[in-house]
Amino acid sequence: MIKGVLVIGAGTMGSGIAQVFAQKGIKVYLNDVSMEIIEKSIGKIRKNLEKQVSKGKLTEEEKEKALNLLEPTTEITGKNVELIVEAVVEIMEVKQEIFKKLDAAYSPDVILASNTSSLPITELASVTSHPERVAGMHFFNPVPVMKLIEVIKGMRTSDNVIKKVVETSKFLGKEPVVVNDSPGFATSRFLMVMINEAICGLWENVASAEGIDTAMKLGMNHPMGPLELADLIGLDVCLDIMEFLYDSFKDPKYRPCPLLKKMVAAGYLGRKSSRGFYQYS
Ligand code: CAA
Repeated sequence: MIKGVLVIGAGTMGSGIAQVFAQKGIKVYLNDVSMEIIEKSIGKIRKNLEKQVSKGKLTEEEKEKALNLLEPTTEITGKNVELIVEAVVEIMEVKQEIFKKLDAAYSPDVILASNTSSLPITELASVTSHPERVAGMHFFNPVPVMKLIEVIKGMRTSDNVIKKVVETSKFLGKEPVVVNDSPGFATSRFLMVMINEAICGLWENVASAEGIDTAMKLGMNHPMGPLELADLIGLDVCLDIMEFLYDSFKDPKYRPCPLLKKMVAAGYLGRKSSRGFYQYS
């Protein structure tokens, strides 16, 4: 298995990704723009692991071992790094800047993966000199719990790189599904249409937020209602994905609901801002 991984972006997703690699005994360099952000992220991982210890699902030694494998860094270089997982904001230009730097810093055998939930891998790979080593490795929130890794094959991604990403996903105890490079892939595209429609339902007063979520949970057996889930994902992320889908397909079915836009403008981003469709303490 791979010796080391560099995770770029220590937000909700980057933190979860770093945790699952470290728990499998892989050295993790966790990168972000400031040490403060990374330390906060590692603090979150520590809390998660402590919770597992208190439930008897992890020993104290296993927790310490995982934490010791995490190395915070503001640099993009790390020893024995064989895979890089980028998990920064969903803005193509920002990701491309990072991929250009990674391309220059790492030999062509190092895999460059993006955790993007919708942006085209082919376009991301186009700024590198070795597009065959660029793939999508899309994790789901909360990363330590969710079984799926959506593995995205860009137009020029090599079969060997896909094979390695699939193997790594299985090693992490996840279930990989290989999909082709299409806007929103085989998850975000379908999920966001449902979430956006539920937001429109709320906007049109079909039912209260609680009513919509309860109906979808009990009627469809979904673990969370669509509005609760939007709060978990982040309303800004939902809006970015809807706008991207609308732009990509030029089809009105992807038009973001005006209420979603208004909530993002108001700073009601869901759990991370303590307020979305629900209030969080
Ligand atoms: N981090 C780590 N572990 C977490 C967690 C978190 N943030 N939240 C919950 N867990 C763990 C709990 O500790 C618990 O673990 P144990 O079984 O070991 O005790 C387990 O998950 C179940 O949690 P709870 O009992 O507290 O609550 P629950 O049964 O209601 O499950 C849930 C919580 C797993 C989040 C569940 O509600 C669920 O599956 N929701 C849907 C999540 C989903 O759809 N995610 C995908 C979002 S889309 C995305 O991420 C992609 C994108 O790019 C947009």
